[in-house]
Amino acid sequence: MADTRKEGAEAAAPAGEKPELPTGFLRFRVSQSDVTYGGGIVAGGTIVKWFGDLATELCIRYDGDEGLLAAYELLEFRTPVHAGDYLEFRGRITKVGNRSRRIEMECYKVIAPDPDRGPTAAKVLPEPVLVARALGTVVAPKPKAQE
Ligand SMILES: CC(C)(COP(=O)(O)OP(=O)(O)OC[C@H]1O[C@@H](n2cnc3c(N)ncnc32)[C@H](O)[C@@H]1OP(=O)(O)O)[C@@H](O)C(=O)NCCC(=O)NCCS
Repeated sequence: MADTRKEGAEAAAPAGEKPELPTGFLRFRVSQSDVTYGGGIVAGGTIVKWFGDLATELCIRYDGDEGLLAAYELLEFRTPVHAGDYLEFRGRITKVGNRSRRIEMECYKVIAPDPDRGPTAAKVLPEPVLVARALGTVVAPKPKAQE
């Protein structure tokens, strides 16, 4: 199989052009089995797990490999998440080192249950609501020759 890894941002782009850095996107419905806490609230650790899935997508898009998450320098939770919410995760690689890739990710709520109208009622939110954001670093594997 062809080695899809790039040796760094400069090496990945033709001379004089900025390399294209990938974006990633996840959207899904939160289920009852995702709930941990009183009031039907989803644990922050569960949201971090979903950030990890998005970070993995970014690594695959750039390096053709899942990579490893080295560090989060910021994790912020702004809005509680409940079963029945639809979440959108958006992320991007913003900087490429030799093997490190800086990532920025946000989680938004776009649909929420509307229990006042009935047990299965739900509404599309007029604007996405910021749930959480994360800044961190993922690391691509060493090229085979350096192992
Ligand atoms: C992340 C990990 C692979 C880095 O180890 P390593 O390969 O020896 O790292 P190195 O010291 O060679 O550094 C490689 C690059 O990562 C960067 N890096 C390493 N640790 C870092 C950290 N904690 N924060 C930010 N960047 C880091 C280095 O600055 C370097 O950047 P560069 O390539 O742009 O120069 C290793 O610490 C590890 O396996 N951690 C566990 C990962 C894990 O299990 N994550 C959860 C599941 S995904």
